[in-house]
Amino acid sequence: MSIDLFAPFRLGDLELKNRFVMAPMTRNRAGEGTAPTALNAEYYAQRAGAGLIITEGTQPSAVGQGYPNTPGLHTEDQVAGWRLVADAVHAVGGVVVAQLMHTGRIGHEKITGQQPVAPSAIAAAGQVFTGAGMDDLPTPRALATDELPGVVAEFVDAARRAVEAGLDGVELHAANGYLLHQFLGDTSNARTDAYGGSPENRARFVVEVATAVAAAIGAGRVGIRVSPGHAFNDMTETEVEATYEALVTGLAPLGLLYLHIAEDPGTTYGEALRTLFPGVVIISTGFQGASDLETAQSVVDSDRGDLFAVGRGFLANPDLVERFRVGAPLNAVDQATTYGGGAEGYTDYSRLSA
Ligand SMILES: Cc1cc2nc3c(=O)[nH]c(=O)nc-3n(C[C@H](O)[C@H](O)[C@H](O)COP(=O)(O)O)c2cc1C
Repeated sequence: MSIDLFAPFRLGDLELKNRFVMAPMTRNRAGEGTAPTALNAEYYAQRAGAGLIITEGTQPSAVGQGYPNTPGLHTEDQVAGWRLVADAVHAVGGVVVAQLMHTGRIGHEKITGQQPVAPSAIAAAGQVFTGAGMDDLPTPRALATDELPGVVAEFVDAARRAVEAGLDGVELHAANGYLLHQFLGDTSNARTDAYGGSPENRARFVVEVATAVAAAIGAGRVGIRVSPGHAFNDMTETEVEATYEALVTGLAPLGLLYLHIAEDPGTTYGEALRTLFPGVVIISTGFQGASDLETAQSVVDSDRGDLFAVGRGFLANPDLVERFRVGAPLNAVDQATTYGGGAEGYTDYSRLSA
């Protein structure tokens, strides 16, 4: 039987309008002190027709910022900015969680004034936009074992601030080659302490972060995103099955709000994780796969996931769910205004006329 994606869905204590999730998307439009602004609040409120909004990646600490003008959750001004977002989304009946993204080795001193930190002093191949132009990704500083509790505390503090701002929870970003994923990956993590070497050890830090954040704000407010085997940001993972099995086995008892799996086309890692994780599963694609209504329907009908997250469809179509419902054509993304800028290409995408 086909499941109605447009019907409400109960996600823990949260009542979602439907089963469509707005995937997290960095837009580089934070204001002064990397605090969200009224414009950011307007953007998210416009997209509150999604059952759940996952915000753009948000740094839990200054050193965790990897790109210009991404928002943070480590100062009081940022909390005030996020309150604008939470209030605007709630005013129109939406639900919104902040994605906590510590970018680890994907960053640059020109952005933060600090050398990036990572599990090991291994640079990712590639370049990063530092504001004026592109720079090679630097060799990060390896975090000492006794520094790790401090990084956990940064995630905990950011999660507390998210709740203080009125957001409905947080998503831990353990995907796409950023800090938590760098711990999971065997080519980015060459540690010889309890946080490296075996799948269980490489999963340990991510499980510790999730455990601590869940203890601080309640497991029912904490989701986590993974992208098993996804090569973005120079990640090359071997032992993918064993690593993610160890991770999800460690996460399973926590009672988290959801597991969000970004799947590359042709991979089936998500199926095993679905059986290991006792809660709600969100499926999205990496950048390559189809992300349309048909895919969402087949993911939910085949029980690969409970919810489906769409990225670029929501970026360019504030009323994406309504367009899906009536079968209307979709606006295309304007690449030139995707990263950075103001209202153009951000809050001025058209809605269907009434
Ligand atoms: C502009 C842009 C920014 C993105 N930023 C993030 C991010 O901050 N965090 C994240 O987990 N994924 C990010 N992604 C990946 C999306 O969440 C999603 O997985 C991807 O776009 C594939 O879905 P789609 O085909 O529906 O767009 C970004 C994607 C786009 C297009």
